[in-house]
Amino acid sequence: MSGSSGKRNRGEARVLRLDDQVCPHCGRELQAEWDEFPPALQKKYGKPGEWYYHPCTPECEKKNEQREWELMRRDARITALKERSGLSKRMKGYALDNFDHQLSKSAEKAFAKAMDYIMSWKENREDGRGLYFCGDVGTGKTHLAVAVMNELMTRKRVPSLFVTVPELLDNMRGAYNDPGRDIDEWMDSVKNADLLLLDDLGAERANEWVRERIFVIVNHRYREELPTIFTSNIGPRDLAAQLGERTASRIIAMCDWISLEGEDYREAEVRRGL
Ligand SMILES: Nc1ncnc2c1ncn2[C@@H]1O[C@H](COP(=O)(O)OP(=O)(O)OP(=O)(O)O)[C@@H](O)[C@H]1O
Ligand SMILES: [Mg+2]
Ligand SMILES: [Zn+2]
Repeated sequence: MSGSSGKRNRGEARVLRLDDQVCPHCGRELQAEWDEFPPALQKKYGKPGEWYYHPCTPECEKKNEQREWELMRRDARITALKERSGLSKRMKGYALDNFDHQLSKSAEKAFAKAMDYIMSWKENREDGRGLYFCGDVGTGKTHLAVAVMNELMTRKRVPSLFVTVPELLDNMRGAYNDPGRDIDEWMDSVKNADLLLLDDLGAERANEWVRERIFVIVNHRYREELPTIFTSNIGPRDLAAQLGERTASRIIAMCDWISLEGEDYREAEVRRGL
């Protein structure tokens, strides 16, 4: 609430207290003075004047400058995190507040679980707990999973990496067939990201080679207790058949399950547009 009470008397500097202007360092209310512009400047700035806030103590001023600088640095760090996250332009826009959680009962439950996961991030990180979103095509798995990742990057500054499994395997195949190609560094960041989102697990037919590659990553993250978020069309019962017992049992041990059911949102959107 703005408490700019009292009339402005031209040219008269008055001291008054404003409820919403407090020193971010000590919390004291700041004193303000109305600074009336001369007529020429009034026109230039499009306003009759402005409030001038007296700084708190010199010590507070120093702290506040530092705070502002730190906030700027924090913003820059978040931007840098997002740039390195592997998220596409579309996915950078996936957020909790543009996920329609009232779409269905399952969307509602999934959303609540996703929120819980974020709220308990500290414990989840310590225990290496992740999430496994499963469900049919177009039910919002990637959207909600990425929204969790975006939230953790923005609010908790968690260095996160988004990778689709088919792409990951393609890259590995490329390196396998062409030993000159160096993907070690990238693989290292996949294995060791503070938070890894593996999108579309099991989207391709899993032969022995594929299973082994996925096992190496899952096993590393399991052993190091690093949280991983998966999205997949494969339900818990088919996971072992698709990826092998060893991988499945580790994923089951590491993750809370979130299932999303219902119709394909993409299709429904097209229909609504018609
Ligand atoms: N509950 C929702 N609220 C808002 N948008 C949604 C919701 N569910 C899905 N969408 C949108 O529908 C599209 C498909 O969602 P998404 O990509 O998350 O599906 P998916 O379950 O990952 O599908 P696939 O199995 O094909 O990967 C996206 O554009 C997404 O933003
Ligand atoms: Mg998806
Ligand atoms: Zn102060």
